[in-house]
Amino acid sequence: MQIGWIHVVDFRNYRTLEYSPTPRLNLLIGPNAQGKTNLLEALGMLIAGRSFRTSRLAEMPRWGVERSTISGELVRGDGSAGRRVVRRTLTKREDDRWQNAGESVEWARVIAFGWQDLEIINGAPGARRNFIDGFAGRLYPTHLAALVRYRQILARRNRLLQQHAHGDDAAARLQPWNEQLAAVGMELMDRRRKAVAALQTELARIYRALSTTRSKVEVRYWTALGEATEPAALLAALNRTQRAELRRGQTLVGPHRDDLAIEIDGVDARAFASRGQQRLVALVLRLAEVLPVAEAAGTAPVLLLDDALSELDPGVRELVLRELGAAEQVFLTSPETLAVKGAAVFQVNAGGIAPV
Ligand SMILES: Nc1ncnc2c1ncn2[C@@H]1O[C@H](COP(=O)(O)OP(=O)(O)OP(=O)(O)O)[C@@H](O)[C@H]1O
Ligand SMILES: [Mg+2]
Repeated sequence: MQIGWIHVVDFRNYRTLEYSPTPRLNLLIGPNAQGKTNLLEALGMLIAGRSFRTSRLAEMPRWGVERSTISGELVRGDGSAGRRVVRRTLTKREDDRWQNAGESVEWARVIAFGWQDLEIINGAPGARRNFIDGFAGRLYPTHLAALVRYRQILARRNRLLQQHAHGDDAAARLQPWNEQLAAVGMELMDRRRKAVAALQTELARIYRALSTTRSKVEVRYWTALGEATEPAALLAALNRTQRAELRRGQTLVGPHRDDLAIEIDGVDARAFASRGQQRLVALVLRLAEVLPVAEAAGTAPVLLLDDALSELDPGVRELVLRELGAAEQVFLTSPETLAVKGAAVFQVNAGGIAPV
């Protein structure tokens, strides 16, 4: 799929912006703090209705405004009648909270890479869970709703654990929550494992193509439940840990405690990989999403790559650019001029954009 055009009003440092990108590689070049990342964020909002860098709506509207709008055309690009004009608004409500409104297009997908993705490699387990849930959400549209449901059940169960730390009836009161947690929890774990399996094949292939060394990279889903796939296994684990849970006042097993092991040549990338290697693996994890997401959605996702070449050596940069040549629509930002054959180059300057 592609973005045909986008029209942005009062978003971040843009007052108004009209931009018609090319269907392939778009290079967005400009000095620091001019609006390159902001533009990628607007493109992502148009497609997914969500920012890839913040969950706080209030950060996105241009300072001082009451409303911000992003509209544009999404083109499915497979010859079928797939062209949709979408419009998204952020509006300040009377209680000062921001409301995000707009319809979503069932086949539209976006994959974003930014500096914060380094956290997938060297951050806490939560960053890796978010990564795999984001990917699973692009593959299976019901995943994110199940995740919300799981978090509600978990919060409810944790409250019960805290209230009944000393009660005799704790087990009976927890039972219905255990069952719900086990059912939704296993559903999440099942989709996460499928997502990891889909990622692995592509990850190995792309890393081989991009790395100038002969290393191999591998991801594995880690859970205290091992290979178990039945809700009964999670239910049994909850029953086993219940005493400790009552003492601690929190749920100690389930998908909210799982992790992703990321290894280069069999060693933990978090502890042993060089900075450049970590950047490359983080980028490759995002690129590895492309094919599985394209298969699931029936059209290739749009790629938003924020400063994806920084910290990579010239040889690896060349290889990354070559790999991007095979992708559909890509937006790549850089503070430095890049010479790429066939790419459309745009200069981003103080909330404006001009073709070069
Ligand atoms: N809500 C907002 N309203 C107005 N301006 C904003 C808002 N949020 C951020 N900005 C401005 O946008 C600028 C940053 O833009 P952006 O992050 O897109 O820069 P960039 O071109 O990606 O720079 P870099 O090369 O450093 O990554 C900030 O300097 C800030 O002044
Ligand atoms: Mg930036």
